[in-house]
Amino acid sequence: MTRIVYLNGDYVPEQEARVSVFDRGFLFADAVYEVTAVLNGKLLENDGHIARLLRSCRELNLALPVTPDALEAIQRELIARNHLREGAVYLQLSRGSTGDREFDFPPAGTPPTLALFTQARSVINHAKAISGIRVVTLEDIRWHRRDIKTVGLLAPCLAKEFAHVQGADDAFLVEDGLITEGSSCNAWIVTASGTLVTRPLSNDILHGITRRSLLELAKNHAIPFEERAFSVEEAYAAREAFISSATTFIWPVVNIDGRTVGDGAPGPVTRALRAIYVEMALRATA
Ligand code: PDD
Repeated sequence: MTRIVYLNGDYVPEQEARVSVFDRGFLFADAVYEVTAVLNGKLLENDGHIARLLRSCRELNLALPVTPDALEAIQRELIARNHLREGAVYLQLSRGSTGDREFDFPPAGTPPTLALFTQARSVINHAKAISGIRVVTLEDIRWHRRDIKTVGLLAPCLAKEFAHVQGADDAFLVEDGLITEGSSCNAWIVTASGTLVTRPLSNDILHGITRRSLLELAKNHAIPFEERAFSVEEAYAAREAFISSATTFIWPVVNIDGRTVGDGAPGPVTRALRAIYVEMALRATA
């Protein structure tokens, strides 16, 4: 099926969308992005994604060429034009192009490149949400501003490839013996006493929108949690582990570096939290 994508003001068939080879997103990864889940044809937690986009833009001195409301209207229009019921809307904003390769920022007024497209995928009934995933740990070689959602994603691509070569699904990234996050998700464990643990917000991790909602839901459902860094050894010994992101919601982690987590099946706290999140998501998009 040919998708209709959005590029700099136009809705065009995907084959017709063209970006310059001199675009700074292409040459320097000088671009930010967001991924918003779509359920029942509606955007989920989009206010959080737009707020994070604005923060990424501020941190990089990138100007959003449309208002947040206009951006959401584009997202909605794309969902409608592509008849998307379940999946995600991807958006990317680069610093545009001056028609050559120059490290220096382009002159003020150089138009940025804004592109959006939809991706159909199963979120609610994804097989991995039920079976869980295997992860391997790997040194976190990313830059020091992981709180900014840039398209400089070579390290996560390498991490996923490293995991796949070893027969795993994904990687937990490790710095100074402590897990920062997953290659494209936040990382969580459940301790022997049933407490959720996830790394606190800092420049070391992306400030996940799903992470934030899960903490809020845990609070409302009296599920104890701690925001603190945890070690690889603690993850090995955890009763449960899971990942969170807009595209997975929650996927249980049943194996880390070949070691079974808990009894090797998705645990009760993980399953309960996923059910709570899914219920919230379905209600929000009904
Ligand atoms: N990734 N950490 C990293 C490094 C991520 O790339 C993501 C999201 C998250 C979770 O953030 P959120 O809950 O807001 O989706 C954490 C998206 C889904 C991606 O790159 O496709």
